[in-house]
Amino acid sequence: MATRWGICSAGKISHDFTVALKTLPLEDHQVVAVAARKLEDAQEFAKKHSISKAYGSYEELARDRDIDVVYIGVIHPYHLNTCLLFTNAKKNVLCEKPLAMNTKEVQQILASAKKNGVFLMEAVWTRFFPVSVEIRRLLAQGELGEVKMVRSEFGVPLMHVPRAMQKELGGGALLDIGIYCLQFVSMVYNGEKPESIQASGVVHVETGVDETVVAILKYSKNRMAVITCSSGVKLPNDAIIMGTKGTVRVPAMWCPTSLVVNEKETEYPVPEPYLPLNFINSTGMRYEAEEVRQCLLKGLKESTVMSHADSLLLAELEDEIRRQVGVVYSQDCQ
Ligand SMILES: NC(=O)c1ccc[n+]([C@@H]2O[C@H](COP(=O)([O-])OP(=O)(O)OC[C@H]3O[C@@H](n4cnc5c(N)ncnc54)[C@H](OP(=O)(O)O)[C@@H]3O)[C@@H](O)[C@H]2O)c1
Repeated sequence: MATRWGICSAGKISHDFTVALKTLPLEDHQVVAVAARKLEDAQEFAKKHSISKAYGSYEELARDRDIDVVYIGVIHPYHLNTCLLFTNAKKNVLCEKPLAMNTKEVQQILASAKKNGVFLMEAVWTRFFPVSVEIRRLLAQGELGEVKMVRSEFGVPLMHVPRAMQKELGGGALLDIGIYCLQFVSMVYNGEKPESIQASGVVHVETGVDETVVAILKYSKNRMAVITCSSGVKLPNDAIIMGTKGTVRVPAMWCPTSLVVNEKETEYPVPEPYLPLNFINSTGMRYEAEEVRQCLLKGLKESTVMSHADSLLLAELEDEIRRQVGVVYSQDCQ
Protein backbone atom coordinates (compact mmCIF):
# COMPACT_ATOMS: atom_id res chain seq x y z
CA MET A 1 0.00 0.00 0.00
CA ALA A 2 1.24 3.45 -0.90
CA THR A 3 1.89 6.04 1.81
CA ARG A 4 -0.70 8.78 1.22
CA TRP A 5 0.69 12.28 1.72
CA GLY A 6 -1.08 15.54 2.41
CA ILE A 7 0.89 18.72 1.75
CA CYS A 8 0.35 21.64 4.12
CA SER A 9 1.11 25.00 2.44
CA ALA A 10 1.67 25.86 -1.18
CA GLY A 11 5.03 27.56 -0.64
CA LYS A 12 8.49 27.04 -2.03
CA ILE A 13 9.63 24.06 -0.03
CA SER A 14 6.26 22.31 -0.39
CA HIS A 15 6.73 22.54 -4.15
CA ASP A 16 10.20 21.00 -3.94
CA PHE A 17 9.09 18.28 -1.53
CA THR A 18 6.23 17.29 -3.83
CA VAL A 19 8.64 17.07 -6.77
CA ALA A 20 10.94 14.92 -4.62
CA LEU A 21 8.07 12.60 -3.65
CA LYS A 22 7.32 12.02 -7.29
CA THR A 23 10.81 10.69 -7.91
CA LEU A 24 9.76 7.70 -5.76
CA PRO A 25 7.64 4.78 -7.04
CA LEU A 26 3.91 5.60 -7.23
CA GLU A 27 3.10 2.31 -5.52
CA ASP A 28 5.04 3.56 -2.47
CA HIS A 29 4.22 7.30 -2.29
CA GLN A 30 1.13 9.20 -3.42
CA VAL A 31 0.27 12.86 -2.94
CA VAL A 32 -3.44 12.90 -2.16
CA ALA A 33 -4.20 16.50 -1.15
CA VAL A 34 -2.73 19.95 -0.67
CA ALA A 35 -3.95 22.71 1.64
CA ALA A 36 -3.12 26.40 1.67
CA ARG A 37 -4.50 29.42 3.48
CA LYS A 38 -6.05 30.53 0.20
CA LEU A 39 -8.02 28.05 -1.89
CA GLU A 40 -6.68 29.55 -5.16
CA ASP A 41 -3.10 28.84 -4.03
CA ALA A 42 -3.96 25.25 -3.18
CA GLN A 43 -5.78 24.81 -6.49
CA GLU A 44 -2.88 26.21 -8.49
CA PHE A 45 -0.45 23.94 -6.62
CA ALA A 46 -2.74 20.93 -7.15
CA LYS A 47 -2.94 21.65 -10.88
CA LYS A 48 0.81 22.01 -11.21
CA HIS A 49 1.47 18.70 -9.44
CA SER A 50 -1.65 16.76 -10.58
CA ILE A 51 -3.01 16.41 -7.04
CA SER A 52 -6.70 15.48 -6.89
CA LYS A 53 -7.78 17.43 -3.76
CA ALA A 54 -7.12 21.09 -2.90
CA TYR A 55 -8.26 22.71 0.36
CA GLY A 56 -8.45 26.38 1.31
CA SER A 57 -7.67 25.70 4.98
CA TYR A 58 -5.32 23.45 6.95
CA GLU A 59 -8.28 22.29 9.07
CA GLU A 60 -9.89 20.61 6.05
CA LEU A 61 -6.67 18.67 5.42
CA ALA A 62 -6.64 17.65 9.08
CA ARG A 63 -10.15 16.19 8.63
CA ASP A 64 -9.26 14.24 5.45
CA ARG A 65 -9.43 10.53 6.24
CA ASP A 66 -7.44 9.52 3.15
CA ILE A 67 -4.18 10.93 4.47
CA ASP A 68 -1.51 8.85 6.24
CA VAL A 69 0.97 11.64 6.87
CA VAL A 70 1.11 15.41 6.49
CA TYR A 71 4.16 17.30 5.29
CA ILE A 72 4.26 20.75 6.93
CA GLY A 73 6.03 23.35 4.80
CA VAL A 74 4.83 26.56 6.46
CA ILE A 75 7.34 29.10 7.82
CA HIS A 76 8.66 28.24 11.27
CA PRO A 77 6.71 30.63 13.54
CA TYR A 78 3.65 28.62 12.47
CA HIS A 79 5.16 25.16 13.00
CA LEU A 80 3.87 24.88 16.58
CA ASN A 81 0.20 25.53 15.88
CA THR A 82 0.23 23.65 12.59
CA CYS A 83 1.89 20.59 14.15
CA LEU A 84 -0.64 20.64 17.01
CA LEU A 85 -3.53 20.89 14.54
CA PHE A 86 -2.44 17.70 12.78
CA THR A 87 -1.22 15.70 15.78
CA ASN A 88 -4.51 16.42 17.57
CA ALA A 89 -6.30 15.21 14.43
CA LYS A 90 -4.27 11.96 14.80
CA LYS A 91 -2.26 12.62 11.67
CA ASN A 92 1.37 11.56 11.35
CA VAL A 93 3.61 14.54 10.67
CA LEU A 94 6.83 15.40 8.86
CA CYS A 95 7.51 19.06 9.73
CA GLU A 96 10.11 21.30 8.12
CA LYS A 97 13.12 22.44 10.09
CA PRO A 98 13.46 24.06 12.56
CA LEU A 99 10.74 22.02 14.28
CA ALA A 100 9.81 25.17 16.22
CA MET A 101 11.12 28.53 17.42
CA ASN A 102 12.54 27.32 20.75
CA THR A 103 12.82 24.37 23.13
CA LYS A 104 9.53 25.12 24.87
CA GLU A 105 7.63 24.91 21.58
CA VAL A 106 9.48 21.74 20.53
CA GLN A 107 8.51 20.12 23.83
CA GLN A 108 4.85 21.00 23.22
CA ILE A 109 4.94 19.44 19.75
CA LEU A 110 6.66 16.26 20.93
CA ALA A 111 4.27 15.92 23.87
CA SER A 112 1.28 16.27 21.55
CA ALA A 113 2.62 13.65 19.13
CA LYS A 114 3.16 11.29 22.05
CA LYS A 115 -0.25 11.94 23.59
CA ASN A 116 -2.00 11.35 20.26
CA GLY A 117 0.09 8.29 19.40
CA VAL A 118 1.27 9.62 16.03
CA PHE A 119 4.59 9.59 14.21
CA LEU A 120 6.42 12.90 14.10
CA MET A 121 9.77 13.88 12.61
CA GLU A 122 11.60 17.15 12.01
CA ALA A 123 12.46 17.23 8.30
CA VAL A 124 16.23 17.27 8.65
CA TRP A 125 16.56 15.81 5.15
CA THR A 126 20.39 15.90 5.21
CA ARG A 127 20.52 12.92 7.56
CA PHE A 128 18.91 10.61 5.01
CA PHE A 129 21.13 11.30 2.01
CA PRO A 130 23.31 8.29 1.03
CA VAL A 131 26.33 10.46 1.91
CA SER A 132 25.10 10.76 5.51
CA VAL A 133 24.44 7.02 5.68
CA GLU A 134 28.03 6.44 4.56
CA ILE A 135 29.40 8.92 7.13
CA ARG A 136 27.57 7.11 9.93
CA ARG A 137 28.98 3.79 8.65
CA LEU A 138 32.54 5.16 8.63
CA LEU A 139 32.08 6.47 12.17
CA ALA A 140 30.45 3.30 13.51
CA GLN A 141 33.19 1.10 12.07
CA GLY A 142 35.92 3.32 13.50
CA GLU A 143 37.43 3.99 10.08
CA LEU A 144 38.31 7.57 11.01
CA GLY A 145 39.80 6.61 14.36
CA GLU A 146 38.93 8.92 17.22
CA VAL A 147 37.17 12.06 15.99
CA LYS A 148 38.76 15.14 17.55
CA MET A 149 37.31 18.02 15.53
CA VAL A 150 34.25 18.69 13.39
CA ARG A 151 33.77 21.85 11.35
CA SER A 152 30.63 22.77 9.54
CA GLU A 153 29.57 25.92 7.76
CA PHE A 154 26.65 27.22 5.79
CA GLY A 155 26.52 30.71 4.38
CA VAL A 156 24.35 32.03 1.59
CA PRO A 157 23.13 35.58 0.91
CA LEU A 158 19.51 35.71 2.09
CA MET A 159 19.10 39.40 2.90
CA HIS A 160 16.59 39.76 0.05
CA VAL A 161 14.32 36.98 1.42
CA PRO A 162 11.70 38.46 3.79
CA ARG A 163 11.23 35.29 5.85
CA ALA A 164 15.01 35.11 6.42
CA MET A 165 15.26 38.69 7.67
CA GLN A 166 12.00 39.63 9.41
CA LYS A 167 11.82 38.57 13.02
CA GLU A 168 8.07 37.92 13.03
CA LEU A 169 8.53 35.54 10.06
CA GLY A 170 11.20 33.59 11.98
CA GLY A 171 14.17 35.37 10.39
CA GLY A 172 17.75 34.68 11.44
CA ALA A 173 20.60 32.61 10.00
CA LEU A 174 20.89 30.17 12.89
CA LEU A 175 17.35 28.76 12.74
CA ASP A 176 17.25 28.77 8.96
CA ILE A 177 20.66 27.44 7.94
CA GLY A 178 22.88 27.21 11.05
CA ILE A 179 20.63 24.34 12.12
CA TYR A 180 22.22 22.24 9.38
CA CYS A 181 25.68 22.80 10.88
CA LEU A 182 24.41 21.92 14.36
CA GLN A 183 22.67 18.78 13.19
CA PHE A 184 25.84 17.69 11.37
CA VAL A 185 28.01 18.09 14.46
CA SER A 186 25.37 16.39 16.61
CA MET A 187 25.15 13.48 14.19
CA VAL A 188 28.93 12.96 14.25
CA TYR A 189 28.99 13.15 18.07
CA ASN A 190 26.03 10.79 18.25
CA GLY A 191 23.52 13.10 19.91
CA GLU A 192 25.84 14.00 22.79
CA LYS A 193 25.31 17.31 24.59
CA PRO A 194 28.35 19.60 24.44
CA GLU A 195 30.01 20.44 27.76
CA SER A 196 30.24 24.09 26.76
CA ILE A 197 29.29 26.47 23.96
CA GLN A 198 30.88 29.81 23.13
CA ALA A 199 29.00 31.78 20.51
CA SER A 200 29.45 35.15 18.92
CA GLY A 201 27.42 36.75 16.20
CA VAL A 202 26.42 39.75 14.17
CA VAL A 203 22.86 40.84 14.81
CA HIS A 204 21.23 42.84 12.03
CA VAL A 205 20.62 46.32 13.46
CA GLU A 206 17.30 47.00 11.75
CA THR A 207 15.66 43.60 12.12
CA GLY A 208 17.22 42.21 15.32
CA VAL A 209 17.90 38.81 13.79
CA ASP A 210 21.28 37.08 13.52
CA GLU A 211 23.08 37.56 10.23
CA THR A 212 26.30 35.68 11.03
CA VAL A 213 27.00 33.28 13.89
CA VAL A 214 30.13 31.41 14.92
CA ALA A 215 29.94 28.89 17.75
CA ILE A 216 32.61 26.74 19.36
CA LEU A 217 31.29 23.59 21.00
CA LYS A 218 33.39 21.54 23.40
CA TYR A 219 32.47 17.92 23.97
CA SER A 220 33.65 15.32 26.48
CA LYS A 221 37.10 13.76 26.00
CA ASN A 222 38.49 16.99 24.54
CA ARG A 223 36.53 16.78 21.31
CA MET A 224 35.62 20.05 19.61
CA ALA A 225 33.39 21.46 16.91
CA VAL A 226 33.07 24.82 15.20
CA ILE A 227 30.02 25.97 13.28
CA THR A 228 29.64 29.08 11.14
CA CYS A 229 26.49 30.31 9.45
CA SER A 230 25.70 33.49 7.60
CA SER A 231 22.77 34.94 5.70
CA GLY A 232 25.00 37.82 4.59
CA VAL A 233 27.67 36.08 2.56
CA LYS A 234 28.37 32.84 0.70
CA LEU A 235 30.73 30.47 2.53
CA PRO A 236 32.46 27.34 1.12
CA ASN A 237 29.68 25.32 2.83
CA ASP A 238 31.72 22.20 3.54
CA ALA A 239 31.74 20.08 6.64
CA ILE A 240 34.92 18.36 7.77
CA ILE A 241 35.37 15.53 10.24
CA MET A 242 38.92 15.09 11.50
CA GLY A 243 39.80 11.82 13.18
CA THR A 244 43.08 10.26 14.32
CA LYS A 245 42.99 7.84 11.36
CA GLY A 246 41.34 9.86 8.63
CA THR A 247 39.51 12.91 7.40
CA VAL A 248 36.16 13.28 5.70
CA ARG A 249 35.06 16.33 3.76
CA VAL A 250 31.45 16.86 2.78
CA PRO A 251 30.91 19.47 0.05
CA ALA A 252 27.46 21.16 0.12
CA MET A 253 27.06 19.83 3.61
CA TRP A 254 23.27 20.36 3.89
CA CYS A 255 22.37 18.44 0.70
CA PRO A 256 25.50 16.42 -0.07
CA THR A 257 25.97 14.53 -3.32
CA SER A 258 29.65 13.75 -2.88
CA LEU A 259 31.95 12.63 -0.11
CA VAL A 260 35.71 13.00 0.10
CA VAL A 261 37.27 10.35 2.34
CA ASN A 262 41.04 10.82 2.77
CA GLU A 263 41.20 12.83 -0.49
CA LYS A 264 39.22 10.23 -2.48
CA GLU A 265 35.93 11.59 -3.80
CA THR A 266 32.81 9.52 -4.45
CA GLU A 267 29.67 10.91 -6.11
CA TYR A 268 26.12 10.17 -4.94
CA PRO A 269 23.88 12.05 -7.42
CA VAL A 270 20.22 12.82 -6.71
CA PRO A 271 17.53 12.28 -9.38
CA GLU A 272 16.54 14.97 -11.86
CA PRO A 273 13.32 16.88 -11.02
CA TYR A 274 10.27 16.90 -13.35
CA LEU A 275 9.76 20.65 -12.65
CA PRO A 276 12.26 23.40 -11.84
CA LEU A 277 13.12 23.52 -8.11
CA ASN A 278 13.35 26.47 -5.72
CA PHE A 279 16.34 25.04 -3.85
CA ILE A 280 19.43 23.06 -4.82
CA ASN A 281 19.30 19.22 -4.77
CA SER A 282 15.75 19.21 -3.41
CA THR A 283 14.94 15.86 -5.00
CA GLY A 284 17.15 14.57 -2.15
CA MET A 285 14.13 15.04 0.10
CA ARG A 286 13.02 11.68 -1.31
CA TYR A 287 15.28 9.96 1.23
CA GLU A 288 13.56 11.48 4.27
CA ALA A 289 10.17 10.69 2.70
CA GLU A 290 11.17 7.06 2.33
CA GLU A 291 12.37 7.04 5.96
CA VAL A 292 8.90 8.24 7.01
CA ARG A 293 7.29 5.46 4.97
CA GLN A 294 9.52 2.81 6.51
CA CYS A 295 8.81 4.09 10.03
CA LEU A 296 5.04 4.08 9.37
CA LEU A 297 5.18 0.56 7.95
CA LYS A 298 6.94 -0.57 11.13
CA GLY A 299 4.48 1.29 13.36
CA LEU A 300 7.23 3.52 14.78
CA LYS A 301 6.38 6.91 16.32
CA GLU A 302 9.79 8.42 15.66
CA SER A 303 12.83 7.81 13.48
CA THR A 304 16.03 6.58 15.11
CA VAL A 305 18.05 8.65 12.61
CA MET A 306 16.29 11.95 13.43
CA SER A 307 14.66 11.21 16.77
CA HIS A 308 12.63 13.38 19.13
CA ALA A 309 15.71 13.61 21.37
CA ASP A 310 17.68 14.86 18.36
CA SER A 311 15.10 17.62 17.77
CA LEU A 312 15.17 18.60 21.44
CA LEU A 313 18.96 18.76 21.43
CA LEU A 314 18.95 20.96 18.32
CA ALA A 315 16.43 23.33 19.92
CA GLU A 316 18.48 23.51 23.13
CA LEU A 317 21.66 24.30 21.20
CA GLU A 318 19.83 26.95 19.16
CA ASP A 319 18.38 28.54 22.33
CA GLU A 320 21.76 28.73 24.03
CA ILE A 321 23.51 30.16 20.96
CA ARG A 322 20.75 32.74 20.46
CA ARG A 323 20.98 33.66 24.16
CA GLN A 324 24.69 34.37 23.79
CA VAL A 325 24.31 36.22 20.49
CA GLY A 326 21.30 38.20 21.74
CA VAL A 327 18.41 37.19 19.50
CA VAL A 328 15.02 37.02 21.19
CA TYR A 329 11.77 36.08 19.44
CA SER A 330 8.32 36.97 20.71
CA GLN A 331 7.79 33.23 21.25
CA ASP A 332 10.58 33.28 23.88
CA CYS A 333 8.61 35.75 25.97
CA GLN A 334 5.34 33.81 26.06
N1 LIG B 1 14.58 21.49 3.72
C1 LIG B 1 15.01 22.55 3.06
O1 LIG B 1 15.93 22.50 2.27
C2 LIG B 1 14.32 23.84 3.25
C3 LIG B 1 14.52 24.86 2.30
C4 LIG B 1 13.81 26.03 2.46
C5 LIG B 1 12.96 26.20 3.53
N2 LIG B 1 12.82 25.22 4.46
C6 LIG B 1 11.92 25.42 5.61
O2 LIG B 1 10.60 25.37 5.10
C7 LIG B 1 9.78 26.35 5.72
C8 LIG B 1 9.13 27.19 4.64
O3 LIG B 1 10.10 27.83 3.85
P1 LIG B 1 9.74 28.36 2.36
O4 LIG B 1 10.98 28.91 1.80
O5 LIG B 1 8.97 27.33 1.62
O6 LIG B 1 8.77 29.58 2.76
P2 LIG B 1 7.67 30.36 1.91
O7 LIG B 1 7.52 29.80 0.56
O8 LIG B 1 7.98 31.82 2.06
O9 LIG B 1 6.36 30.11 2.80
C9 LIG B 1 5.88 28.80 3.02
C10 LIG B 1 4.41 28.88 3.42
O10 LIG B 1 4.29 29.42 4.73
C11 LIG B 1 3.05 30.11 4.83
N3 LIG B 1 3.32 31.52 5.16
C12 LIG B 1 4.21 32.34 4.60
N4 LIG B 1 4.14 33.57 5.15
C13 LIG B 1 3.19 33.50 6.09
C14 LIG B 1 2.64 34.45 7.01
N5 LIG B 1 3.10 35.71 7.07
N6 LIG B 1 1.66 34.03 7.83
C15 LIG B 1 1.22 32.77 7.79
N7 LIG B 1 1.69 31.84 6.95
C16 LIG B 1 2.67 32.20 6.11
C17 LIG B 1 2.39 30.06 3.44
O11 LIG B 1 1.45 28.99 3.45
P3 LIG B 1 0.18 28.96 2.47
O12 LIG B 1 0.69 28.43 1.17
O13 LIG B 1 -0.78 28.07 3.15
O14 LIG B 1 -0.33 30.37 2.37
C18 LIG B 1 3.56 29.79 2.55
O15 LIG B 1 3.22 29.18 1.33
C19 LIG B 1 10.70 27.12 6.68
O16 LIG B 1 10.44 26.68 8.00
C20 LIG B 1 12.10 26.78 6.25
O17 LIG B 1 13.02 26.72 7.33
C21 LIG B 1 13.48 24.05 4.32
